[in-house]
Amino acid sequence: MSKLHVTTSINGDETEFLCEPDQTLLEVLRDELELTGSKEGCGTGDCGACSVTVDGRLVCSCLMLAAEAEGHEIGTIEGMANGEELHPLQQKFLEHAALQCGICTPGFLIAAKALLERNPDPTETEVRYWLAGNLCRCTGYDKIIRAVLDAAQEMREAS
Ligand code: FES
Ligand code: FES
Repeated sequence: MSKLHVTTSINGDETEFLCEPDQTLLEVLRDELELTGSKEGCGTGDCGACSVTVDGRLVCSCLMLAAEAEGHEIGTIEGMANGEELHPLQQKFLEHAALQCGICTPGFLIAAKALLERNPDPTETEVRYWLAGNLCRCTGYDKIIRAVLDAAQEMREAS
């Protein structure tokens, strides 16, 4: 099968890659582009560990073909920190100990960032609903929710 040539933007950098027509975006990110922050938990759209943004919309990269990235802007966990400076969500996840094994964490962070860009002042219920597509086997969720609410408050105060 001949490979497809794709031109896209990943975390603000114009990026080109070759992929098989049936390769998922998650596979290309991890296996071809060495962006291994996005995780494969289920591969079927059920866990959110592979979450990325496409033109600002939250997407499971295990469900999207890499070829569909053509002409779009992809955001991954690797683009979240500003150099050495962590995003407030990353900082609050650390402060609240909102991670244990860490497999789910990139997906939660990407999803939470997408939420706060739409709704900078979410209620706890809104955070819980928004993150319902992200599964964690370790933390029990409460610390994650507290971290997101705390980050939201800090970001509002800083803006
Ligand atoms: S790996 Fe994509 S949703 Fe689980
Ligand atoms: S920290 Fe282990 S799955 Fe969430």
